[in-house]
Amino acid sequence: MPNAYISGTGMYVPERIVTNDDLRDEYGIDTNHEWIVKRTGIEARRFAPEGVGSADLALPASEQAIANAGIDKTDLDMIVFATLSPEHCFPGSGVYLQEKLGLAEAGKFVPALDIRNQCSGFLYGLATATSMVKSGGAKHVLLVGGETHSAALDLTTRGRTVSSLFGDGAGAVVVSATEEDRGVRGWYLGADGRFADVLSQRVWDIRKRPFIPTDDDGVGHVQPEMMWAHMDGKLVFKNAVVRMIEVLREALIDQGLELDDIDLFCFHQANLRINQYIANMVGIPEDKCVTNIERFGNTTAATIPLLLAESAANGRLKPGMKVACVAFGSGFTWGSAIIDW
Ligand code: ACO
Repeated sequence: MPNAYISGTGMYVPERIVTNDDLRDEYGIDTNHEWIVKRTGIEARRFAPEGVGSADLALPASEQAIANAGIDKTDLDMIVFATLSPEHCFPGSGVYLQEKLGLAEAGKFVPALDIRNQCSGFLYGLATATSMVKSGGAKHVLLVGGETHSAALDLTTRGRTVSSLFGDGAGAVVVSATEEDRGVRGWYLGADGRFADVLSQRVWDIRKRPFIPTDDDGVGHVQPEMMWAHMDGKLVFKNAVVRMIEVLREALIDQGLELDDIDLFCFHQANLRINQYIANMVGIPEDKCVTNIERFGNTTAATIPLLLAESAANGRLKPGMKVACVAFGSGFTWGSAIIDW
């Protein structure tokens, strides 16, 4: 059975930087830089322009990952796309990315799978890609996390608790087969559906007839408030801390590793305070944790591949290092992975 390793990484964030002050000054939100930084660590985020979707953000990230992997796009056997902000309800962003990559024109009708596991989406995708490669089902899998949150944020004072947290971006990796003794050593996933509604975006309820409420004219209309994410922030915070520590410990124990064996920690970036609390509780030195939340906010499924791509590009992540990735998000879902880089 081959090993599955990350042969290439890539990233893309939209050009437009939206600072905390911009939320106040441009959008008129009653907020301030100090409140957001103190509670979350976020200083700025990126917003994509109108007309741009998650597959658009994913395209340059994917092209970079493919180039870094030293392969041609036609070498890909599969696309796995993790997002909670696809262009449409269906089909998923994976097929749009396949089209943008021009794979059909090149005669490569590779399967495209979408993963709907929010902040844990990249690690659910990594488990899927790794399993495909190790089973011999694929040699090269393009795994992308891409989000266009800015389109569905309530950028008013009413929505400030959620809208100040999120940003847009995409990160991509190529997961490839190798006979070398390296790569994704193990992945550990979990979910607790009892909390499904605690952190959710319920644009419609398919169980209802009509499933989109109708106005007096009898026509279904999605009201803006139906598009916003609902979140019990404190409950999310408490569960994130517990589950992320558990699933990190599970990975270390299963791999027979001590905390000190890990060279780099890539935690999902929902709130810097969550990660600082975990690092304190477990005893992880700050210089072993990479962050991007201060610049990008919470980019959900894109967060971990953005961290990996940035760390690989700036030399923080070097071959031979042992990396621990940990995530928690809506579902609730969570996961971890240990990677020999
Ligand atoms: N600026 C200024 N004031 C604000 C802001 C803001 N951006 N947001 C909220 N406030 C106010 C609230 O209105 C409230 O005011 P009130 O006391 O007058 O009612 C006060 O600040 C405290 O609000 P809380 O919601 O109680 O603040 P809390 O300390 O819980 O922090 C936060 C909120 C930062 C969101 C925190 O709960 C958190 O980070 N939770 C985890 C979030 C998370 O991980 N989400 C993951 C989503 S990812 C995914 O899977 C999709």
